[in-house]
Amino acid sequence: MTSRPRSIVVLTGAGISAESGIETFRAAEGLWANHHVEDVATPGGFAKNPQLVYEFYNQRRRQLLSSEISPNTAHSALAKFEHEFDGKFLLVTQNVDNLHERAGSQNLIHMHGELLKMRCLNSRLVFDVGTDFDYDTHCRCCGSAGNLRPHVVWFGEMPLQMNRINTALENCDMFVSIGTSGNVYPASEFYQTAKIRKASTVELNLERTGSSFDQHVCGPATESVPQFFESLLRS
Ligand code: APR
Repeated sequence: MTSRPRSIVVLTGAGISAESGIETFRAAEGLWANHHVEDVATPGGFAKNPQLVYEFYNQRRRQLLSSEISPNTAHSALAKFEHEFDGKFLLVTQNVDNLHERAGSQNLIHMHGELLKMRCLNSRLVFDVGTDFDYDTHCRCCGSAGNLRPHVVWFGEMPLQMNRINTALENCDMFVSIGTSGNVYPASEFYQTAKIRKASTVELNLERTGSSFDQHVCGPATESVPQFFESLLRS
């Protein structure tokens, strides 16, 4: 049994939302099998064909808001753990869906942005958005069309709130990575930052990734996450 940490950082990736019905990026039938990353997830792609990019995120937002998508037991287990744990807890997600907050998570950072937010290119103000938007949508702050982009971090852009994340990683005594392939920097390096201060590192994933954690638990997140965090609370 794992001993109970005093400060824990959890990183989640697309794998935690897979059993809620949202496809991952790098699976055989995942998002990047059917879309070119450089077309829909880079500043250059947006400059070249904004309509394609708007449509890509509009489709994903529609899917997220459909009645078919809801948090699963892995999201709920993390929210329950945060509520009952008496130490420090930070949840960092690479996911742009809102399933963690719908499950009740509170101390949460969306390091790659959020599907339900858009940003003005002039003022950088961020607005909630629950409908389609595109080049013709008028911005709420400047009143102009053509100024709004998805509030999603694209390849080549800086992830959000990195200072806060690094401070938490440098001070935690446990780091848990859930449902991420570890292909994308800087999230792929978080376990090494945590290890510098001798934190124990754990991976919960369908299969073992290439990164070397102290502990690997293989299995679907809806099983491994509730089991792992319940046992941590009892430790
Ligand atoms: N339970 C646990 N893990 C799962 C499950 C499941 N049910 N299903 C899939 N996985 C694992 C896969 O084994 C894989 O390691 O989830 C991981 C998903 O990997 P990716 O598709 O690469 O997603 P992610 O790691 O979140 O991608 C990181 O890449 O394109 C960017 O910005 C995008 O945030 C994303 C980033």
